[in-house]
Amino acid sequence: MKTPTRIRLAIQKSGRLNNDSIKWLLQCGLKINYSKKTLICPVENFPIDILFVRDDDIPSLVMNGVCELGIVGENVLLEQTTAINENEIDQKYHVVKKLGFSRCRLSIAIANEKPFANIHSLRNLRIATSYPHLLTKYLNAYDVPAKILTISGSVEIAPRLGMADAICDLVATGKTLKENNLKEVEAIIQSQALLMKTLHPSHANKKRALDRFLSQIA
Ligand code: PRP
Ligand code: ZN
Repeated sequence: MKTPTRIRLAIQKSGRLNNDSIKWLLQCGLKINYSKKTLICPVENFPIDILFVRDDDIPSLVMNGVCELGIVGENVLLEQTTAINENEIDQKYHVVKKLGFSRCRLSIAIANEKPFANIHSLRNLRIATSYPHLLTKYLNAYDVPAKILTISGSVEIAPRLGMADAICDLVATGKTLKENNLKEVEAIIQSQALLMKTLHPSHANKKRALDRFLSQIA
């Protein structure tokens, strides 16, 4: 019998999701031998290769069928799908399941000393974020105009630098907000890790390996 072709599962290379994702894969019974520098790691007891990539790249790797599976935060997937036409991406992936770890929320925060009554207090403020599409959608729903500044990391320092009046970023423990003299005023979305799978047609041998893995974790 022909050995089934190996499938690829993308996880975050470094950051919050990395440890939790590996822990989950081990709990699923996969034997993984990896070091910090590894970018691709074959699973010893399953026809799967684990790819270590930037989390921003995971949705497109799965949608394009480069990887059959990916573990990514809902925050990343929602931001990217909000940016693209929803009908266009609908057929390209499927959420297998929410995994219950790496929980956080995407929230708007302002300086502790700033007054805040309700969402309309944000009117015309400069808001720094790495999630411009989700933030725009949220503010539009309340008809609140604002100037959105997109930055890719360390968003919480923007108010201290005088670049922004508010921020919109992930909050888990709230430690980063506290350290930067910020208070959370609006939660936009709740997030956790999820397993996504490609709907891109793949080789029959790969489909077998994919189905076997999915039935193992069901
Ligand atoms: C994440 C997130 C927040 C912080 C929230 O940043 O963007 O800044 O963690 O966690 P907390 O509420 O437990 O403090 P990360 O450390 O991943 O850095 P980055 O945003 O610069 O990528
Ligand atoms: Zn951050």
